[in-house]
Amino acid sequence: MLRTDPASVRTGAVHPEIRLEGISLVYEAGGSTVLALEDLDCRFAAGKVTAIIGPSGCGKSTMLQITRGFMQASRGTLSFIGPDGQPMPHPPRMATVWQSFNLFPWRTVEDNVAFGLEMAGVAAAERRARAHEALRLVDLAGFERKYPGQLSGGMRQRVGMARALVMDPDVLLLDEPFGALDAQTRLVLQEQLAAMVDRTGKTVLLITHSIEEAVLLADTVYVLTARPGRVAAEVVIDLPKPRSVASTHDPRYAGYFERIYALLKSEVLRSMHGEPGGA
Ligand SMILES: Nc1ncnc2c1ncn2[C@@H]1O[C@H](COP(=O)(O)OP(=O)(O)OP(=O)(O)O)[C@@H](O)[C@H]1O
Ligand SMILES: [Mg+2]
Repeated sequence: MLRTDPASVRTGAVHPEIRLEGISLVYEAGGSTVLALEDLDCRFAAGKVTAIIGPSGCGKSTMLQITRGFMQASRGTLSFIGPDGQPMPHPPRMATVWQSFNLFPWRTVEDNVAFGLEMAGVAAAERRARAHEALRLVDLAGFERKYPGQLSGGMRQRVGMARALVMDPDVLLLDEPFGALDAQTRLVLQEQLAAMVDRTGKTVLLITHSIEEAVLLADTVYVLTARPGRVAAEVVIDLPKPRSVASTHDPRYAGYFERIYALLKSEVLRSMHGEPGGA
């Protein structure tokens, strides 16, 4: 799956802290408006995994789009803080695994993975070599010439992951990256992702619906309110690393799980009943 050989560590990488301060986002469509995020404050620590969990429709993907720079917040500021504690003059290298992994059906697996490199003007031979390496990292060596339609959902999701890893980003933005995987593959990939992050120190933002995944992978978990999304709670996960399935047997694991579950349950109920803030 996500192999973790040292050869893939890029030197000179800068892993920033990301700050969202007072972020609000209003969608305007067909004369009506939707307040998706309201006064959201989050920090994604440098070289750490921050998980975001919250009811469906609370604005998680919207928050990722804003962080990625694909969408402008209606209010508030987004900043990237470098190792010197100062705002970076340019956004860092970011790559995203989107919720719907958006593969091009007419391109081969290899050409899907190499797409970002092609856009960046990387020469064909290097593109090919890097795409093959990224596919090897997600255990898909040998599938280079296949088309997405010839793969299972889980394999397509791993192509999506390879497409992000191939860019060797400083910031990895993951929108439910393991949602379409079977439970066993998901566990293995989660462990491998945890190891890769520990080793490379990338700043990772992980959106997930899974409390287990959030506690297993994250250093900090933000629980968001029902829409409009705001921070309901920030939970620091102080479990030893490296984490693995064995971490779920740590007595503290159950405590984190229950705390996040209780927070999430009240927000989900609020969104289902359309109470104020959840409408
Ligand atoms: N382009 C759009 N125009 C209008 N409303 C939108 C648009 N995109 C999203 N929304 C609304 O904004 C809210 C937040 O959407 P978003 O996709 O960020 O939620 P989410 O937390 O990622 O949900 P899920 O957990 O289901 O993926 C939702 O209520 C959604 O209906
Ligand atoms: Mg979403």
